Amino acid sequence: MKKTLKTLIAATAGICILAGLALAAEGQKDAKGVSYSFEGPFGTFDKGQLQRGYKVYKEVCANCHSMDYVAFRNLAEQGGPGFNEEQVKALAATFTVRDGPDSAGEMFDRSGRPSDRFPAPFANPEAAAAANGGAVPPDLSLITKFRPGWFGTFNQLANGIGGPQYVYSVLTGYEEASEEIKKEMPEGKSYNPYFANGQFIAMAPPLVDGQVEFDDGSPNKIDDMARDVSAFLAWTAEPKMEERKSMGFMVMIYLAILAGLLYFVKKKIWHDQH
Ligand code: HEC
Repeated sequence: MKKTLKTLIAATAGICILAGLALAAEGQKDAKGVSYSFEGPFGTFDKGQLQRGYKVYKEVCANCHSMDYVAFRNLAEQGGPGFNEEQVKALAATFTVRDGPDSAGEMFDRSGRPSDRFPAPFANPEAAAAANGGAVPPDLSLITKFRPGWFGTFNQLANGIGGPQYVYSVLTGYEEASEEIKKEMPEGKSYNPYFANGQFIAMAPPLVDGQVEFDDGSPNKIDDMARDVSAFLAWTAEPKMEERKSMGFMVMIYLAILAGLLYFVKKKIWHDQH
């Protein structure tokens, strides 16, 4: 019996380790270990950081990347960046949205409204590829769930999958390529060992120090902007995170009280039997 159990445990552990290894891309570096306010069972988003991250997304990333699953009104919802409705109206209006057809059957442009989703910067993937040296900038709504920053089942159980850390690492991970590597580097690409799709990336370094001015006067080095925008993209991928965590906490309290009650009920019912 003991032996069977041991074999079973060893086999399960083996499968877990193999599954973790199989997913790791060849030569990809583990993401840098940034820590965020929203980690752990009680972590919440830092509203100021999400607002700064939104600004970086809007002024820089939105020129190339879409964010199809996020509507402007989401920015005013509970657990998000905490913009008020007036602010959301104003920031939606800074985008141009393709609408229609009108009564003459024509498509037309108008300014954005809170109910609109973020408009894509290119009309179709072909146009996006043509403008970016043949590579399509992926949609960023769910990127922090799609790309893990590190591998290994136990590592991911303990530290999360590292999605925001992956985005941070790609943004800050451009390195000078050695002569050896330069020989292999295709024209128009940059060397970035954190990129999951091979070490050469078609996105030129998108950030430079001081590029985005924050309303709250926060520092705006590449590192700061990368931290803020990756936090913002963690929120777009899981806008109900805070709700989920507080629900989980309530469930734990409920179960603790229930366990206590059951204990006393059991004691009472079995009282005379002892
Ligand atoms: C000039 C256009 C452009 C801008 C601006 C830009 N990107 Fe990109 N990005 C791309 C392209 C093109 C790719 C695809 C690269 C490839 O496939 O080699 C990409 C890839 C990425 C990836 C890797 C995706 C993956 O598949 O793992 C991330 C993360 C990313 N961008 C985030 C950002 C963020 C955040 C910003 C804003 C700070 C930004 N990008 C700004 C064009 C851009």
